[in-house]
Amino acid sequence: MLWFKRRRQLPETEKIVPKHIGIIMDGNGRWAKKRGLPRQAGHVTGAKVFRTIAKHCEKRGIAVATFYTFSTENWKRPPEEVDAIMNLLREYLKESLADFKKENIRTRFIGDRSVLAEDIQQLMAQAEEATKNKTGMILNIAINYGGRAELAIAARQIAEQVKAGTLSPEEVNEALLEQHLYTAGQPEVDLILRPSGEYRLSNFLIWQCAYAEYVFDDILWPDFSTKDLDKVLEIYAGRHRRFGGV
Ligand code: FPP
Repeated sequence: MLWFKRRRQLPETEKIVPKHIGIIMDGNGRWAKKRGLPRQAGHVTGAKVFRTIAKHCEKRGIAVATFYTFSTENWKRPPEEVDAIMNLLREYLKESLADFKKENIRTRFIGDRSVLAEDIQQLMAQAEEATKNKTGMILNIAINYGGRAELAIAARQIAEQVKAGTLSPEEVNEALLEQHLYTAGQPEVDLILRPSGEYRLSNFLIWQCAYAEYVFDDILWPDFSTKDLDKVLEIYAGRHRRFGGV
């Protein structure tokens, strides 16, 4: 007897989704400039798109989505732009603390948060605490994040253990180093998406991307839609990944 509900048959390309996607939200400044607006206006729209795309990643069955929000190099931007991005983050955190109840998303932050404003650090801790038992997608928000800094911190932590005599140099291997990354325990990155016509990784998840696929397109981040993400996932599904094999 057919007592269960028949599942909709998905087309083949919809079945292969990356476990971990990394997204570089680029092009906010150019989007604003094209409209004669201050750069900050691009970040405002970019933050809205971030919310929509994060939810769509969860809907498409992605296990981990990491969004590059603010890099260790972004402090070089004019102070008013840095403040605008921090305010958007603050706003998002306050608003999403209420929203979290509806979503099945675990929010994490990667990067050095110690230099951020005290209230932002508190909101980040609250967001992580409020979502820690969720069972859906992990949403990593990279803030004051740099891939090289992440590796340097991991190396320092390991060196301290060797110095303390709790670890021998022979025990240092790839698996151990991975345990000291912000993304410890998460799957490595399968797919990097960078819109806006730039073709760089910009110090994003450099260890985790060793075998990632890349999709670059020309759309500026504030114009990026859920349909665009579906197209990117279709491209990914068509890639033949060999991981060094044949
Ligand atoms: C890169 O575009 C974008 C950033 C450095 C900031 C990204 C931040 C947001 C989308 C807001 C995030 C907010 C939340 C709530 C997480 P760009 O400014 O370098 O653009 P350009 O290359 O056109 O100048």
